[in-house]
Amino acid sequence: MRSKVTVVGAGNVGATVGQRVAERDYADVTLVDVIPDMPQGKALDILEAGPVLGYDSLVIGSNGYDETEGSDIVVITSGIARKPGMSRDDLIRTNQGIVTQVTQEVARRSPNAIIICVTNPLDAMVQLAHKVSGFPKQRVLGMAGVLDTARFRTFIAQELGVSVRDVQAFVLGGHGDTMVPLTRASSVAGVPLADLIPAERLAQIVQRTRDGGAEIVALLKQGSAYYAPSASVLQMIDSILLDKKMIMPCSVYLEGEYGINGLFVGVPAKLGAKGVEEIIQLDLSHEEQAALQKSADSVKELVSVMGL
Ligand code: APR
Repeated sequence: MRSKVTVVGAGNVGATVGQRVAERDYADVTLVDVIPDMPQGKALDILEAGPVLGYDSLVIGSNGYDETEGSDIVVITSGIARKPGMSRDDLIRTNQGIVTQVTQEVARRSPNAIIICVTNPLDAMVQLAHKVSGFPKQRVLGMAGVLDTARFRTFIAQELGVSVRDVQAFVLGGHGDTMVPLTRASSVAGVPLADLIPAERLAQIVQRTRDGGAEIVALLKQGSAYYAPSASVLQMIDSILLDKKMIMPCSVYLEGEYGINGLFVGVPAKLGAKGVEEIIQLDLSHEEQAALQKSADSVKELVSVMGL
């Protein structure tokens, strides 16, 4: 039987995730949104691309949740997108209400699903989805690190004139101003980054990575990034549905790992059929540990704003 992926929020990120999943031809897709007819229209459009691109994925759209029943993966992208000049953190109260309602609806109909949260502020929203769903920690996670790492890798490859495939990099921490690009664990074809890019230039690239979301927002004038975010979600879905056990940075629930307890923060995790199958513990320097802790503290602050 085909797998089933539900995407809640059929906006820019959600619809593009739906398209990318359909093109993989390994799962049926349900798009849900509150806007009347919109998810139905986008779903039909994606479905009609099937004969041209050669996929048989069934794609349906709905304004309700009955069609989501029995999903293997639920991607939550519903929320208000960041506007120019608005921080992710400003979004929290609006998106708290949306993610709470959506999580209740999907958890009831797909009690065995793995939830991938995308709505910002990311780490806080994953924490909320975990609490509201009551799902075990292995089955609730957030997409941020793959995207942040992709941006970092893009800039490094550009800087050095090499293939993005040869650039290995890790970005830890919360999705936001406190993300921690791990330059020490980053390399190009095995050569440490620090040997290839002068420290001052590397610091600029790290800063551009931190501001990666805002850079796109400023260029688009309305809405925020969605091509790279949806590609990042797809990589997580691939690893889960195909049980690939890829290791990638995700927002996961920490219980003592990295000295952090009871919070969702971005760290490397192994993703497979069971969801988060292992949290990889890197040996951090004092400086990196302190930066990760700072990042965790800012997630904690948002979590307390929500009253969790
Ligand atoms: N239920 C279902 N869908 C909802 C709800 C709800 N309660 N509330 C809002 N939505 C839908 C909106 O109608 C919209 O179509 O969520 C969609 C969000 O899509 P966009 O506004 O296009 O935002 P997008 O760019 O896709 O970003 C989605 O991902 O990267 C993050 O910060 C970003 O939190 C934002 C999310």
